Amino acid sequence: MPRARTTGVASAARLARSILIGPGAGAGTSFRRGRATIHHAPAERLYDQWPEPVCIIADGPYGIGGFSGDPPTADRLAEWYRPHIEAWTRRATPQTTLWFWGTELGWATVHGEIVGQGWDYRNCHVWNKGLGHIAGNANSQTLRKFPVVTEICVQYVKAARFSVDGRQVSMQDWLRREWSRAGLPLCRANAACGVKNAATRKYLTACHLWYFPPVEAFERLAAYANRHGDRAGRPYFSLDGRTALAGTAWEKMRAKFHCEVGVTNIWSTPALRGPERLKRGAAALHTNQKPQDLYERIIRACTDAGDVVWEPFGGLCPGAVAAARLGRRYVGAEIQPDFYRAATERLAGATRYG
Ligand SMILES: C[S@@+](CC[C@H](N)C(=O)[O-])C[C@H]1O[C@@H](n2cnc3c(N)ncnc32)[C@H](O)[C@@H]1O
Repeated sequence: MPRARTTGVASAARLARSILIGPGAGAGTSFRRGRATIHHAPAERLYDQWPEPVCIIADGPYGIGGFSGDPPTADRLAEWYRPHIEAWTRRATPQTTLWFWGTELGWATVHGEIVGQGWDYRNCHVWNKGLGHIAGNANSQTLRKFPVVTEICVQYVKAARFSVDGRQVSMQDWLRREWSRAGLPLCRANAACGVKNAATRKYLTACHLWYFPPVEAFERLAAYANRHGDRAGRPYFSLDGRTALAGTAWEKMRAKFHCEVGVTNIWSTPALRGPERLKRGAAALHTNQKPQDLYERIIRACTDAGDVVWEPFGGLCPGAVAAARLGRRYVGAEIQPDFYRAATERLAGATRYG
């Protein structure tokens, strides 16, 4: 039976509770601890076996030749990511949030592919590593630009789509269509929701000021349309043609978001130094190791306990550690043996909060 190498953080007792699955060291092996599994295999071979994700953290190639397998330029990055995005789109639900890490140019190159496959852009977060990141190494006169001290992490959500007469329409269009199908004037939505004009203006508008109706508002709109709307077209606001969608099902039609007070889209955290930075001799083990606290932030923001987190390009798998600490389920993948091994050791040593 192959065994994971232990480190200072991974006690023998914790490793004993962890399981190595598979034929042994090398591609195809998996390491499981509790509800988190890291696979030593290309992610694209695994997506269809993984449970549905509520959160996908994609920190893959940047197009800067930063690690083995990272293309030297961003030119063909969209092509590289296409099969991955196809799988994320296939397996995601309207509750899923995608966090796409990269350089600004890498992201600009891939953005069209992500949106083109049905994801809605939500926000761009800038990881500002601060002046300390320059460390006297940037020769701006040679490079002819200001030193770069940032990476970005872009948030997308998988938009719900509704099938109408064989066409896929947006939630906004579907809500308006159901209301007008009921034969009710738009202004009656206000009476339905017990408000002056907010329901028409927010939930049934055709413009960019549209809002997702909260559960209570959706239930009121659906109940009103089914009580007062044209009998011939009932039920309204239904997906199965038999009953209106329940509030609990409606709540699952959009990604979760828990807003942490004081957090903005600028994340000022120095690049990793000190004990969190994993080393091989004097050098960093992985050039792209991300701060643990940023991963915990994004997982907390878009999941609840027990939800599934995917980390397809694991590296040292900060997502696995974050998920274990926060009580989320987790699946991740890493193809480089050294990174995979180090990630399993970190996961073995992770302690749950609370
Ligand atoms: C940018 S690094 C991730 C760093 C990670 N976020 C961390 O903090 O350690 C991308 C990683 O993806 C891995 N990788 C590249 N292609 C992959 C694939 N198809 N499946 C799984 N891992 C892959 C690389 O070996 C590399 O370690």
